[in-house]
Amino acid sequence: MQLTDDEKAIRDGSEGEARAHAMDLLVRYGIALGAERLVDTNSVCGGVVGSLPGRRDILPEDQRMDMDAVFSLLNLDSDKRLEIPRVKTMSYKLIDAVDMEKADIQRVPLKTQVLAKNVGDFCTRVGINKCNTCAPYQIGNVPVYGEHCAWMESSAVIYINSLLGARSNVEGAHSTAAASLVGKIPYWGYHTPEGRKADYVIDFTYDVQTMLEWGLAGYYIGEKVQEHTPVINGVTHTPHANNLKHFGAAAASAGGVEMFHMPGITPEAQNEAHALGPNKAIERIEFGRAQLEEAYGYFNTATDTDVDFIVIGCPHASLDQVKRVAELLDGKHLSANTDLWIFTPRALKTMATRMGYTESIERAGAHVMSDSCAALSKVYPKGVKVAATDSCKQAHYLPAILGFQTWLGSTEDCVNAALTGKWTGTLA
Ligand code: F3S
Repeated sequence: MQLTDDEKAIRDGSEGEARAHAMDLLVRYGIALGAERLVDTNSVCGGVVGSLPGRRDILPEDQRMDMDAVFSLLNLDSDKRLEIPRVKTMSYKLIDAVDMEKADIQRVPLKTQVLAKNVGDFCTRVGINKCNTCAPYQIGNVPVYGEHCAWMESSAVIYINSLLGARSNVEGAHSTAAASLVGKIPYWGYHTPEGRKADYVIDFTYDVQTMLEWGLAGYYIGEKVQEHTPVINGVTHTPHANNLKHFGAAAASAGGVEMFHMPGITPEAQNEAHALGPNKAIERIEFGRAQLEEAYGYFNTATDTDVDFIVIGCPHASLDQVKRVAELLDGKHLSANTDLWIFTPRALKTMATRMGYTESIERAGAHVMSDSCAALSKVYPKGVKVAATDSCKQAHYLPAILGFQTWLGSTEDCVNAALTGKWTGTLA
Protein backbone atom coordinates (compact mmCIF):
# COMPACT_ATOMS: atom_id res chain seq x y z
CA MET A 1 0.00 0.00 0.00
CA GLN A 2 1.23 3.47 -0.88
CA LEU A 3 1.38 5.71 2.19
CA THR A 4 2.05 9.44 2.26
CA ASP A 5 4.90 10.75 4.38
CA ASP A 6 2.35 12.04 6.91
CA GLU A 7 0.64 8.66 7.12
CA LYS A 8 3.98 6.91 7.60
CA ALA A 9 4.95 9.40 10.30
CA ILE A 10 1.72 8.85 12.20
CA ARG A 11 2.15 5.07 11.95
CA ASP A 12 5.67 5.54 13.31
CA GLY A 13 4.39 7.43 16.34
CA SER A 14 4.65 11.14 15.47
CA GLU A 15 1.22 11.74 17.01
CA GLY A 16 1.38 9.26 19.85
CA GLU A 17 0.82 5.59 20.44
CA ALA A 18 -2.96 5.41 19.96
CA ARG A 19 -2.93 7.16 16.57
CA ALA A 20 0.07 5.02 15.52
CA HIS A 21 -1.89 1.89 16.39
CA ALA A 22 -5.00 3.20 14.60
CA MET A 23 -2.98 3.95 11.44
CA ASP A 24 -1.35 0.54 11.54
CA LEU A 25 -4.76 -1.12 11.95
CA LEU A 26 -6.12 0.73 8.90
CA VAL A 27 -3.04 -0.12 6.81
CA ARG A 28 -3.32 -3.82 7.65
CA TYR A 29 -7.06 -3.73 6.99
CA GLY A 30 -6.50 -1.94 3.67
CA ILE A 31 -3.84 -4.43 2.56
CA ALA A 32 -6.20 -7.32 3.35
CA LEU A 33 -8.85 -5.66 1.17
CA GLY A 34 -6.44 -4.96 -1.70
CA ALA A 35 -6.64 -1.17 -1.26
CA GLU A 36 -3.72 0.66 -2.81
CA ARG A 37 -3.96 3.70 -0.58
CA LEU A 38 -5.87 5.46 2.16
CA VAL A 39 -8.20 8.39 1.63
CA ASP A 40 -8.95 11.34 3.91
CA THR A 41 -12.26 11.28 5.76
CA ASN A 42 -13.87 13.75 8.10
CA SER A 43 -17.13 11.87 8.57
CA VAL A 44 -17.09 8.84 10.85
CA CYS A 45 -20.11 7.07 12.26
CA GLY A 46 -19.54 3.99 14.34
CA GLY A 47 -20.12 2.05 17.48
CA VAL A 48 -18.28 2.49 20.75
CA VAL A 49 -18.32 -1.02 22.16
CA GLY A 50 -18.85 -1.74 25.82
CA SER A 51 -22.37 -0.78 26.89
CA LEU A 52 -23.70 -4.33 26.95
CA PRO A 53 -22.65 -6.63 29.81
CA GLY A 54 -20.34 -9.44 28.82
CA ARG A 55 -18.23 -7.65 26.23
CA ARG A 56 -15.81 -6.27 28.81
CA ASP A 57 -15.37 -9.58 30.59
CA ILE A 58 -12.30 -10.43 28.52
CA LEU A 59 -10.48 -7.54 30.20
CA PRO A 60 -8.79 -7.94 33.60
CA GLU A 61 -11.34 -7.03 36.28
CA ASP A 62 -9.52 -3.86 37.35
CA GLN A 63 -9.65 -2.47 33.77
CA ARG A 64 -13.33 -3.05 32.99
CA MET A 65 -14.41 0.51 33.86
CA ASP A 66 -11.32 2.08 32.31
CA MET A 67 -12.61 3.22 28.92
CA ASP A 68 -9.11 3.71 27.51
CA ALA A 69 -8.48 0.02 28.15
CA VAL A 70 -11.96 -0.96 26.92
CA PHE A 71 -11.68 1.11 23.72
CA SER A 72 -8.13 -0.12 23.11
CA LEU A 73 -9.19 -3.75 23.21
CA LEU A 74 -12.77 -3.75 21.90
CA ASN A 75 -12.54 -0.92 19.34
CA LEU A 76 -8.86 -0.91 18.36
CA ASP A 77 -7.95 -4.56 18.91
CA SER A 78 -4.99 -3.64 21.09
CA ASP A 79 -4.08 -5.83 24.05
CA LYS A 80 -2.02 -2.94 25.32
CA ARG A 81 -3.93 -0.14 27.06
CA LEU A 82 -3.57 3.01 24.95
CA GLU A 83 -4.23 6.56 26.10
CA ILE A 84 -7.05 7.55 23.75
CA PRO A 85 -6.73 11.16 22.56
CA ARG A 86 -9.54 13.35 21.17
CA VAL A 87 -10.81 12.23 17.79
CA LYS A 88 -9.60 14.09 14.70
CA THR A 89 -12.80 13.80 12.65
CA MET A 90 -16.45 14.66 12.91
CA SER A 91 -17.49 11.44 14.65
CA TYR A 92 -20.95 10.22 15.55
CA LYS A 93 -21.95 7.30 17.72
CA LEU A 94 -24.59 4.75 16.72
CA ILE A 95 -27.30 3.43 19.04
CA ASP A 96 -26.67 2.57 22.65
CA ALA A 97 -27.96 -0.19 24.91
CA VAL A 98 -30.55 1.94 26.68
CA ASP A 99 -32.67 5.07 26.64
CA MET A 100 -31.64 6.42 30.05
CA GLU A 101 -34.94 8.31 30.36
CA LYS A 102 -36.90 5.08 29.81
CA ALA A 103 -34.53 2.62 31.43
CA ASP A 104 -37.15 1.30 33.86
CA ILE A 105 -39.73 0.77 31.10
CA GLN A 106 -37.07 -0.85 28.93
CA ARG A 107 -36.18 -3.08 31.95
CA VAL A 108 -32.49 -2.38 31.47
CA PRO A 109 -30.41 -3.61 34.43
CA LEU A 110 -28.55 -1.02 36.49
CA LYS A 111 -25.24 -2.61 35.46
CA THR A 112 -25.97 -1.87 31.79
CA GLN A 113 -26.95 1.70 32.62
CA VAL A 114 -23.64 2.18 34.45
CA LEU A 115 -21.70 0.78 31.47
CA ALA A 116 -23.64 2.97 29.03
CA LYS A 117 -22.92 6.06 31.13
CA ASN A 118 -19.26 5.09 31.23
CA VAL A 119 -19.23 4.87 27.40
CA GLY A 120 -21.10 8.18 27.15
CA ASP A 121 -18.62 9.96 29.43
CA PHE A 122 -15.78 8.61 27.30
CA CYS A 123 -17.45 9.93 24.13
CA THR A 124 -17.71 13.37 25.71
CA ARG A 125 -14.05 13.29 26.69
CA VAL A 126 -12.76 12.26 23.25
CA GLY A 127 -15.27 14.25 21.21
CA ILE A 128 -17.48 11.54 19.68
CA ASN A 129 -20.94 13.05 19.27
CA LYS A 130 -23.49 11.01 21.19
CA CYS A 131 -26.28 11.17 18.64
CA ASN A 132 -26.99 7.50 19.47
CA THR A 133 -28.98 6.85 16.34
CA CYS A 134 -28.78 4.62 13.29
CA ALA A 135 -30.13 7.48 11.16
CA PRO A 136 -27.80 10.45 11.83
CA TYR A 137 -28.61 11.86 8.36
CA GLN A 138 -32.00 12.81 9.85
CA ILE A 139 -30.43 15.08 12.45
CA GLY A 140 -27.95 17.11 10.50
CA ASN A 141 -25.15 14.67 9.75
CA VAL A 142 -25.54 14.93 5.97
CA PRO A 143 -22.35 14.23 3.99
CA VAL A 144 -22.07 15.99 0.64
CA TYR A 145 -21.88 14.45 -2.82
CA GLY A 146 -18.57 12.67 -3.31
CA GLU A 147 -17.51 12.95 0.34
CA HIS A 148 -15.48 10.01 1.63
CA CYS A 149 -16.98 8.68 4.84
CA ALA A 150 -16.39 5.83 7.27
CA TRP A 151 -19.86 4.76 8.41
CA MET A 152 -20.79 1.48 9.99
CA GLU A 153 -24.59 1.12 10.09
CA SER A 154 -25.71 -0.66 6.92
CA SER A 155 -29.03 1.20 6.55
CA ALA A 156 -27.22 4.53 6.87
CA VAL A 157 -24.43 3.58 4.44
CA ILE A 158 -26.88 2.61 1.68
CA TYR A 159 -28.76 5.87 2.34
CA ILE A 160 -25.73 8.18 2.04
CA ASN A 161 -24.20 6.26 -0.90
CA SER A 162 -27.44 6.18 -2.89
CA LEU A 163 -29.46 9.28 -1.98
CA LEU A 164 -26.59 11.67 -1.27
CA GLY A 165 -23.79 10.35 -3.49
CA ALA A 166 -21.43 10.25 -0.51
CA ARG A 167 -18.91 7.40 -0.44
CA SER A 168 -18.66 4.76 2.24
CA ASN A 169 -18.32 1.03 2.61
CA VAL A 170 -20.11 -0.63 5.52
CA GLU A 171 -17.33 -0.35 8.07
CA GLY A 172 -16.88 -2.10 11.41
CA ALA A 173 -16.40 -0.97 14.99
CA HIS A 174 -12.61 -1.26 14.62
CA SER A 175 -12.17 0.59 11.32
CA THR A 176 -14.50 3.41 12.36
CA ALA A 177 -12.71 3.81 15.69
CA ALA A 178 -9.33 3.94 13.94
CA ALA A 179 -10.66 6.32 11.26
CA SER A 180 -11.95 8.71 13.91
CA LEU A 181 -8.45 8.93 15.41
CA VAL A 182 -6.48 9.50 12.20
CA GLY A 183 -9.01 10.76 9.61
CA LYS A 184 -8.20 8.04 7.06
CA ILE A 185 -9.95 4.98 5.62
CA PRO A 186 -8.84 2.46 2.96
CA TYR A 187 -9.70 3.58 -0.57
CA TRP A 188 -11.57 0.65 -2.08
CA GLY A 189 -15.11 -0.56 -2.86
CA TYR A 190 -17.67 2.25 -2.79
CA HIS A 191 -14.96 4.91 -2.46
CA THR A 192 -13.87 4.25 -6.04
CA PRO A 193 -15.85 5.28 -9.16
CA GLU A 194 -15.76 1.74 -10.56
CA GLY A 195 -16.89 0.23 -7.25
CA ARG A 196 -20.11 2.25 -7.45
CA LYS A 197 -21.32 0.93 -10.78
CA ALA A 198 -24.42 -1.25 -10.94
CA ASP A 199 -24.31 -4.91 -11.94
CA TYR A 200 -27.99 -5.87 -11.65
CA VAL A 201 -30.98 -4.26 -13.37
CA ILE A 202 -34.40 -4.19 -11.69
CA ASP A 203 -37.47 -3.26 -13.69
CA PHE A 204 -40.43 -2.09 -11.63
CA THR A 205 -43.69 -3.11 -13.30
CA TYR A 206 -45.65 -2.38 -10.12
CA ASP A 207 -46.33 1.20 -9.05
CA VAL A 208 -44.55 1.09 -5.66
CA GLN A 209 -45.93 3.83 -3.43
CA THR A 210 -46.49 3.08 0.25
CA MET A 211 -43.78 2.72 2.86
CA LEU A 212 -44.66 -0.98 3.27
CA GLU A 213 -44.36 -1.51 -0.48
CA TRP A 214 -41.01 0.27 -0.60
CA GLY A 215 -39.76 -1.89 2.28
CA LEU A 216 -40.94 -5.07 0.56
CA ALA A 217 -39.37 -4.00 -2.73
CA GLY A 218 -36.06 -3.40 -0.96
CA TYR A 219 -36.22 -6.74 0.80
CA TYR A 220 -37.05 -8.62 -2.40
CA ILE A 221 -34.22 -6.94 -4.29
CA GLY A 222 -31.77 -7.55 -1.43
CA GLU A 223 -32.68 -11.25 -1.46
CA LYS A 224 -32.06 -11.43 -5.20
CA VAL A 225 -28.91 -9.35 -5.66
CA GLN A 226 -27.26 -10.04 -2.29
CA GLU A 227 -24.19 -7.76 -2.00
CA HIS A 228 -24.38 -6.44 -5.58
CA THR A 229 -25.47 -2.98 -6.75
CA PRO A 230 -28.83 -2.69 -8.55
CA VAL A 231 -30.07 0.02 -10.86
CA ILE A 232 -33.82 0.38 -10.61
CA ASN A 233 -35.96 1.41 -13.56
CA GLY A 234 -39.66 2.12 -13.82
CA VAL A 235 -40.26 4.15 -10.65
CA THR A 236 -43.38 6.17 -11.47
CA HIS A 237 -44.07 7.91 -8.15
CA THR A 238 -41.15 9.87 -6.71
CA PRO A 239 -40.55 8.35 -3.29
CA HIS A 240 -40.20 10.32 -0.06
CA ALA A 241 -36.90 10.01 1.80
CA ASN A 242 -38.73 7.88 4.40
CA ASN A 243 -39.67 5.41 1.66
CA LEU A 244 -36.08 5.13 0.47
CA LYS A 245 -34.84 4.87 4.06
CA HIS A 246 -37.04 1.77 4.43
CA PHE A 247 -36.17 0.50 0.95
CA GLY A 248 -32.44 0.72 1.62
CA ALA A 249 -32.60 -0.70 5.15
CA ALA A 250 -34.56 -3.69 3.86
CA ALA A 251 -32.18 -4.28 0.92
CA ALA A 252 -29.18 -4.04 3.24
CA SER A 253 -30.63 -6.46 5.80
CA ALA A 254 -31.88 -9.02 3.26
CA GLY A 255 -28.75 -9.14 1.19
CA GLY A 256 -26.01 -6.71 2.14
CA VAL A 257 -26.74 -4.14 -0.59
CA GLU A 258 -24.64 -1.00 0.06
CA MET A 259 -25.80 1.17 -2.84
CA PHE A 260 -28.52 1.41 -5.46
CA HIS A 261 -29.14 3.69 -8.42
CA MET A 262 -32.58 5.01 -9.29
CA PRO A 263 -32.12 7.18 -12.38
CA GLY A 264 -34.04 10.44 -12.10
CA ILE A 265 -34.16 10.16 -8.31
CA THR A 266 -30.70 9.30 -6.99
CA PRO A 267 -27.94 11.69 -8.09
CA GLU A 268 -25.18 9.56 -9.50
CA ALA A 269 -26.53 7.93 -12.66
CA GLN A 270 -28.89 9.53 -15.15
CA ASN A 271 -29.89 6.29 -16.86
CA GLU A 272 -29.34 2.53 -16.80
CA ALA A 273 -26.31 2.62 -19.10
CA HIS A 274 -24.65 5.28 -16.96
CA ALA A 275 -25.36 3.28 -13.79
CA LEU A 276 -23.84 0.12 -15.28
CA GLY A 277 -20.79 1.79 -16.80
CA PRO A 278 -18.52 -0.93 -18.16
CA ASN A 279 -20.44 -3.69 -16.35
CA LYS A 280 -22.77 -6.10 -18.08
CA ALA A 281 -25.83 -6.82 -15.94
CA ILE A 282 -25.55 -10.18 -14.18
CA GLU A 283 -29.33 -10.45 -14.34
CA ARG A 284 -32.41 -8.40 -15.18
CA ILE A 285 -35.17 -8.86 -12.60
CA GLU A 286 -38.80 -7.78 -12.70
CA PHE A 287 -40.50 -6.37 -9.61
CA GLY A 288 -44.24 -6.57 -10.13
CA ARG A 289 -47.28 -7.34 -8.01
CA ALA A 290 -46.37 -11.06 -7.85
CA GLN A 291 -42.92 -10.20 -6.47
CA LEU A 292 -44.46 -7.77 -3.95
CA GLU A 293 -46.71 -10.57 -2.70
CA GLU A 294 -43.78 -13.00 -2.62
CA ALA A 295 -41.83 -10.56 -0.43
CA TYR A 296 -44.84 -10.09 1.87
CA GLY A 297 -44.94 -13.88 2.16
CA TYR A 298 -41.33 -13.96 3.48
CA PHE A 299 -42.73 -12.30 6.58
CA ASN A 300 -46.04 -12.83 8.33
CA THR A 301 -45.37 -16.42 9.23
CA ALA A 302 -46.74 -15.69 12.72
CA THR A 303 -49.76 -17.77 13.72
CA ASP A 304 -50.95 -15.97 16.85
CA THR A 305 -53.02 -12.84 16.12
CA ASP A 306 -52.89 -11.65 19.75
CA VAL A 307 -50.15 -9.00 19.54
CA ASP A 308 -48.17 -7.96 22.65
CA PHE A 309 -45.65 -5.49 21.28
CA ILE A 310 -45.53 -3.01 18.41
CA VAL A 311 -42.16 -1.63 17.26
CA ILE A 312 -42.05 1.46 15.03
CA GLY A 313 -38.95 3.40 14.09
CA CYS A 314 -36.46 1.12 12.33
CA PRO A 315 -34.40 2.86 11.09
CA HIS A 316 -35.15 5.51 13.71
CA ALA A 317 -38.34 7.39 12.83
CA SER A 318 -38.35 10.78 11.16
CA LEU A 319 -40.36 13.61 12.66
CA ASP A 320 -43.22 13.09 10.23
CA GLN A 321 -43.35 9.37 11.06
CA VAL A 322 -43.67 10.30 14.75
CA LYS A 323 -46.35 12.84 13.80
CA ARG A 324 -48.30 10.17 11.87
CA VAL A 325 -48.31 7.82 14.87
CA ALA A 326 -49.38 10.72 17.12
CA GLU A 327 -52.29 11.45 14.81
CA LEU A 328 -53.35 7.80 14.71
CA LEU A 329 -53.21 7.51 18.52
CA ASP A 330 -54.60 10.92 19.45
CA GLY A 331 -57.49 10.63 21.91
CA LYS A 332 -57.33 6.81 21.95
CA HIS A 333 -55.80 4.25 24.29
CA LEU A 334 -53.78 1.11 23.67
CA SER A 335 -55.25 -2.30 24.38
CA ALA A 336 -54.46 -3.36 27.96
CA ASN A 337 -52.33 -6.25 26.70
CA THR A 338 -50.28 -4.39 24.11
CA ASP A 339 -47.30 -2.01 24.17
CA LEU A 340 -46.22 0.33 21.39
CA TRP A 341 -42.73 1.80 21.38
CA ILE A 342 -41.60 4.21 18.68
CA PHE A 343 -37.86 4.90 18.36
CA THR A 344 -36.58 8.23 17.06
CA PRO A 345 -33.32 10.18 17.43
CA ARG A 346 -33.15 12.23 20.65
CA ALA A 347 -32.98 15.49 18.67
CA LEU A 348 -36.23 14.62 16.87
CA LYS A 349 -37.90 13.59 20.12
CA THR A 350 -37.18 17.09 21.39
CA MET A 351 -38.98 18.50 18.36
CA ALA A 352 -41.81 15.93 18.69
CA THR A 353 -42.28 17.01 22.30
CA ARG A 354 -42.33 20.67 21.27
CA MET A 355 -45.04 19.83 18.71
CA GLY A 356 -47.16 17.85 21.20
CA TYR A 357 -46.63 14.53 19.38
CA THR A 358 -44.91 12.90 22.33
CA GLU A 359 -47.82 13.85 24.59
CA SER A 360 -50.43 12.43 22.18
CA ILE A 361 -48.47 9.17 21.90
CA GLU A 362 -47.74 8.77 25.60
CA ARG A 363 -51.28 9.75 26.67
CA ALA A 364 -52.44 6.76 24.64
CA GLY A 365 -50.12 4.53 26.70
CA ALA A 366 -47.35 4.19 24.10
CA HIS A 367 -43.75 5.38 24.46
CA VAL A 368 -41.42 7.56 22.39
CA MET A 369 -37.87 6.26 22.89
CA SER A 370 -34.43 7.32 21.75
CA ASP A 371 -30.80 6.16 21.81
CA SER A 372 -31.75 2.50 21.45
CA CYS A 373 -33.57 -0.10 19.36
CA ALA A 374 -35.74 -3.09 20.29
CA ALA A 375 -33.86 -5.78 18.36
CA LEU A 376 -30.26 -4.60 18.74
CA SER A 377 -30.41 -3.11 22.25
CA LYS A 378 -32.57 -6.13 23.15
CA VAL A 379 -35.15 -4.02 24.99
CA TYR A 380 -38.80 -5.08 25.13
CA PRO A 381 -41.68 -5.32 27.58
CA LYS A 382 -41.99 -8.35 29.87
CA GLY A 383 -43.61 -11.48 28.49
CA VAL A 384 -43.66 -10.60 24.79
CA LYS A 385 -44.46 -13.51 22.49
CA VAL A 386 -45.93 -11.79 19.42
CA ALA A 387 -44.67 -8.53 17.95
CA ALA A 388 -45.62 -6.39 14.97
CA THR A 389 -43.70 -3.74 13.09
CA ASP A 390 -43.89 -1.55 10.00
CA SER A 391 -40.21 -2.18 9.19
CA CYS A 392 -38.88 -5.05 7.09
CA LYS A 393 -35.50 -4.68 8.79
CA GLN A 394 -36.98 -4.96 12.28
CA ALA A 395 -39.22 -7.83 11.11
CA HIS A 396 -36.06 -9.55 9.84
CA TYR A 397 -34.35 -9.20 13.23
CA LEU A 398 -37.12 -9.62 15.84
CA PRO A 399 -37.66 -13.37 15.27
CA ALA A 400 -33.94 -14.06 14.80
CA ILE A 401 -32.63 -12.07 17.77
CA LEU A 402 -35.50 -11.99 20.26
CA GLY A 403 -37.45 -15.07 19.13
CA PHE A 404 -40.79 -13.27 18.74
CA GLN A 405 -43.43 -14.30 16.25
CA THR A 406 -43.56 -11.13 14.16
CA TRP A 407 -46.16 -9.54 11.91
CA LEU A 408 -45.22 -6.96 9.29
CA GLY A 409 -47.64 -4.35 8.04
CA SER A 410 -48.27 -0.68 7.43
CA THR A 411 -47.91 1.89 10.20
CA GLU A 412 -51.72 2.05 10.28
CA ASP A 413 -51.97 -1.77 10.65
CA CYS A 414 -49.46 -1.59 13.51
CA VAL A 415 -51.24 1.19 15.39
CA ASN A 416 -54.54 -0.60 14.89
CA ALA A 417 -53.03 -3.74 16.43
CA ALA A 418 -51.82 -1.66 19.38
CA LEU A 419 -55.33 -0.31 19.93
CA THR A 420 -57.17 -3.64 19.57
CA GLY A 421 -54.51 -6.16 20.62
CA LYS A 422 -55.25 -8.08 17.42
CA TRP A 423 -53.37 -8.36 14.13
CA THR A 424 -55.64 -7.81 11.12
CA GLY A 425 -53.11 -6.36 8.68
CA THR A 426 -53.13 -7.38 5.04
CA LEU A 427 -51.28 -6.36 1.89
CA ALA A 428 -53.56 -3.84 0.18
FE1 F3S B 1 -31.73 1.17 13.72
FE2 F3S B 1 -32.15 -0.92 15.23
FE3 F3S B 1 -33.28 -0.76 12.93
S1 F3S B 1 -30.24 0.16 15.01
S2 F3S B 1 -31.83 0.33 11.68
S3 F3S B 1 -33.66 0.63 14.67
S4 F3S B 1 -32.43 -2.62 13.78
